[in-house]
Amino acid sequence: MRRPIVVGNWKMYGALSDALVLATAIRNGVENFSNLEAIICPPAIWLPEVAEVISKKNDHISPGAQNIHYLSEGEYTGEISAPMVKDVANYVIVGHSERRKYFSETTEIISRKVAAAVDADLSPIICVGEEKVAADSAEKVSRDLKNLLVDIKKNEYKKIIVAYEPVYAVGAAEPANPEYCAKVIQKLREVVGYESPILYGGSINPGNVFEFVKRPEIDGVLVGRASLKASDFIKICRIVSEYKKII
Ligand code: PGA
Repeated sequence: MRRPIVVGNWKMYGALSDALVLATAIRNGVENFSNLEAIICPPAIWLPEVAEVISKKNDHISPGAQNIHYLSEGEYTGEISAPMVKDVANYVIVGHSERRKYFSETTEIISRKVAAAVDADLSPIICVGEEKVAADSAEKVSRDLKNLLVDIKKNEYKKIIVAYEPVYAVGAAEPANPEYCAKVIQKLREVVGYESPILYGGSINPGNVFEFVKRPEIDGVLVGRASLKASDFIKICRIVSEYKKII
């Protein structure tokens, strides 16, 4: 059975002291939500310390990286490889719209990152989403997802997590329409089959998360801004955990 998942993407925010305070508060706050997997993705430089803090008490809260290189080693100043991340984390976000936009990541590069993650036994959290709503958005997004999976085998799909993040809803004032997202996610489900969790991401907060996770198509959420405030992130985790427990 697919588990409910809440991912916190801290992006490029916070000093080490902030990261430790936030990680400790989240670890304590989600302690009893044992049906849920919370994944915390701090800036790479704080990953070992955050991993140390969160792995102390729980097995349902895990660290994740925000990015990897698609090669395992080499002369690539400033980069981090999947085997390096694997020493401290179990997950890595790939294909985030900010990486596509500001770092020119193409479908080919992202598909290699997906394969590099799977080869290193990391679960990639694969982000896909259209720039704006159009009549053919669902087809476009599922085509993109298919192309991102070309370098892994079907029996490895159980290791992946998909995050449907319409680009216009990331870092925005409002999330996308939940009903519409559930429809797109149904299409993505046809691509990955039944084992991979599929999340929604984009302007999620404690006030709107229920509208998304009450839909059986949506297995959880990827949270940006609201993951930087422990009380908001814990509230989101509580709502997801409680609702997904009932169904
Ligand atoms: P947001 O970010 O929740 O701040 O919109 C989402 C994301 O990181 O994808």
